[in-house]
Amino acid sequence: MKKKIGIGKSHSKLILMGEHAVVYGYPAIAIPLKSIEVTCWVEASDHLLIKNAQDPLSVAIFTALDHLKQEAYITYRVNSTVPERRGLGSSAAVAIAAIRAVFDYFNCPLSEPLLDKLASKAEEVAHYNPSGLDVKTCLADSAIHFVRGQGFSNLHFDLNAYLVIADTGVHGHTKEAVEKVKNLGQSARENLDLLGALTLKAEASLLKGDVLGLGRGMTQAHQGLSDLGVSCPEADNLVRQALEYGALGSKMTGGGLGGCIISLVKTESEAENLAKKLEEKGARNTWIQRL
Ligand code: PMV
Repeated sequence: MKKKIGIGKSHSKLILMGEHAVVYGYPAIAIPLKSIEVTCWVEASDHLLIKNAQDPLSVAIFTALDHLKQEAYITYRVNSTVPERRGLGSSAAVAIAAIRAVFDYFNCPLSEPLLDKLASKAEEVAHYNPSGLDVKTCLADSAIHFVRGQGFSNLHFDLNAYLVIADTGVHGHTKEAVEKVKNLGQSARENLDLLGALTLKAEASLLKGDVLGLGRGMTQAHQGLSDLGVSCPEADNLVRQALEYGALGSKMTGGGLGGCIISLVKTESEAENLAKKLEEKGARNTWIQRL
């Protein structure tokens, strides 16, 4: 029995360490951003919905409809506080919310493994060959350590520190950035090795509460990513500003060539001050996340 309205939600994510290297089997650490959310609503319609293969939301809706073998006499809308194409997982979050809304509308149970599979499928069709990290983190309740093809484990820590997320205002280009690294071939290897090692060090810092060590590693990772050619002048500039204002570490996050940077500080008031300063220096938007 169909419902009058189906509702699905998802939170977004951020990659603390390991973007790009994760595509090549190195570990990554990512964090769910529970305060940045997407909601999708599905309702009946007299008109048959047409699929748009270029739109991740439409692809996700049809991935769910195809799985349920249902006809597309529906309409949908979405409300998202996840900025699009800024490396905060908007396409994975949108896919998860949409699939949940379709299953809710048709009153069908949806297990987490099935949701993971369908959301990953939607991401593949809409995008490229994602590592699976985005979907996993948008489904996770706490930080995760993720290795492509091997799965993930939850990381539990309380660092009593804060991340300031700052949006460069420039659209990220994950697909292009991943291709750029791929085209570097063997010459990317040294940097990828470095990024992999930095992720493992960051994990150790998180678990033993070494805030300074984590910060240092983040800044080194930014340099490694920049050397791979996946940063952008706006992100480099905000990273520099954040360090000048006393951040313990700062780096781009996500696919890059735009998108967001993250900076580590010790206290909430330092985070609020840094967020204000970065907005004065051109950040389009900022968010604060406790670590
Ligand atoms: O730009 P985002 O948030 O989708 O992150 C992409 C992360 C990469 O490691 C660059 C690619 C991937 O599939 O993991």
